Amino acid sequence: MNATGNGPGGDAADRHLPVLLQRCVDLLAPALAEPGSVLVDCTLGMGGHTEAVLEQLPAARVIGIDRDPQALALAGERLARFGDRFTPVHAVYDEITEVVDAHAGGAVQGVLMDLGVSSLQLDETDRGFAYAQDAPLDMRMDSTQELTAADVLNTYDERDLARILREYGEERFAGKIARAIVRRRAEREWDRSGELVDLLRAVIPAATRKTGGHPGKRTFQALRIEVNGELEVLERAVPAAIEALAVDGRIVVESYQSLEDRIVKRAIAQGTTSSAPPGLPVEPETHRPYLEALTRGAEEADAAELERNPRSASVRLRAARRLRPTPEHLLNRTSTHHTAKEDRR
Ligand SMILES: C[S@@+](CC[C@H](N)C(=O)[O-])C[C@H]1O[C@@H](n2cnc3c(N)ncnc32)[C@H](O)[C@@H]1O
Repeated sequence: MNATGNGPGGDAADRHLPVLLQRCVDLLAPALAEPGSVLVDCTLGMGGHTEAVLEQLPAARVIGIDRDPQALALAGERLARFGDRFTPVHAVYDEITEVVDAHAGGAVQGVLMDLGVSSLQLDETDRGFAYAQDAPLDMRMDSTQELTAADVLNTYDERDLARILREYGEERFAGKIARAIVRRRAEREWDRSGELVDLLRAVIPAATRKTGGHPGKRTFQALRIEVNGELEVLERAVPAAIEALAVDGRIVVESYQSLEDRIVKRAIAQGTTSSAPPGLPVEPETHRPYLEALTRGAEEADAAELERNPRSASVRLRAARRLRPTPEHLLNRTSTHHTAKEDRR
């Protein structure tokens, strides 16, 4: 990852280099030109994208959401000079509807999501996100939450562990690793990431390690996704973010792995595709697309961006503009997300 290696207390700007920064600002700019226009930065992080919006688009104000209180504090310091043009909010981004109701009167002109972890989170050794350093098996983006990576390893049954490693980590050796995790915890509970890396080195065949990158890469990704409920939250958040957009409003999403990108792609495709049943001679108004895609498929980083910021290697950027309100018959589909969420609470 790409922080410049400052210790704790270092400046937020040095802790995380924003990915495809200018492209994101340029995509959002047409929606944020009018006085009073509002962007929700759902993944404030170190505030890099938000700072560029506030600097370059003087009519806009930004509501910055993050579930990590430490990120909010650091970004808050960085953005203090913008006064009331910036509003920090501690929330999970699937709460965007409530955040927009409370701070922007029900609709906004822009939404930005730059998914995953920040370089700050990877660099804070004691949070356990990085497989390169031995640390407590924590991996919570919000340290006020209860479930940690150690809890997952110590309490989930073998089948669930294997499923998580396979689905969220796309790990070929998921079954073998899950078995070894459960066997080892019968002797001693899991608590350090270094011990997990040692186990992965022992279980993953040496020949595979030559091509598959660090043996911890896929398992650590899977645990992080599980601990933070990342995909489940994103499934609810993208449709809710689209619903929060006023007509002509724009959404930009940067994903860093295929499972995230698939969720984003599907939510945008629902809006850019006609919902009319096939074979109708005339497309009824209510079935016309309510989104226009602003990117052709997913955009990737070019050579210059890659050179500047290695973290951009896996980025997939998608963007869309709202053309009209979502038709009633599709809104009901979106609202099942909310029902499922409320059921779980
Ligand atoms: C890649 S960083 C964003 C970096 C930011 N764009 C910048 O330029 O500094 C992602 C941030 O999103 C936050 N985050 C991840 N999932 C979240 C969620 N479900 N709700 C709220 N914040 C989340 C993380 O805590 C992290 O700080």
